[in-house]
Amino acid sequence: MKAPQHRTKATVEVSAARDFASRPESVSEARAFTQDALAGLDLAVDDVVLCVSEFVTNAVRHSTPHGGTFHLNILVDRGKLRVECHDSGGTKPTLLTPSDADEGGRGLLLVQALTSRWGVHSRPTGKCVWFEIDGDPSVLQGCRRAGRAGS
Ligand SMILES: Nc1ncnc2c1ncn2[C@@H]1O[C@H](COP(=O)(O)OP(=O)(O)OP(=O)(O)O)[C@@H](O)[C@H]1O
Ligand SMILES: [Mg+2]
Repeated sequence: MKAPQHRTKATVEVSAARDFASRPESVSEARAFTQDALAGLDLAVDDVVLCVSEFVTNAVRHSTPHGGTFHLNILVDRGKLRVECHDSGGTKPTLLTPSDADEGGRGLLLVQALTSRWGVHSRPTGKCVWFEIDGDPSVLQGCRRAGRAGS
């Protein structure tokens, strides 16, 4: 695993990656990993951590076999944050339109609301679900653009 690198605000770069066991306990580990990777950067870390939390909760639910692994990539480069979550599940995420009575179905809606864009593409084993937040990382706090699912 490459250690997170933090430089001056003008040339902020972060590259952090880790495999996690596909089990519920990994959700809090992934949150802490994200917090650590982005520590010291002047950006909306709480929003990023929330989106990561939604992704990895889904990855734990959909990885096959259960007890396998999922992989998290966090990259900040040239003013753009990109997070990727690779899981081994064969089905792809889809945005839902939950009613007020529905208990779930809001995770990806949150990601869409808090990021510039998100999407999914197939991999030889499973798929990569990703989101990006544009802009100077020092002003990511202001990012509230509605995104669109890409591929
Ligand atoms: N990594 C994934 N692999 C396969 N299906 C996924 C994945 N992530 C999400 N989905 C599916 O996409 C749909 C939308 O996911 P979303 O996270 O918005 O809702 P949810 O997981 O059903 O509920 P909530 O996140 O509110 O607890 C759901 O049917 C979910 O099962
Ligand atoms: Mg979910």
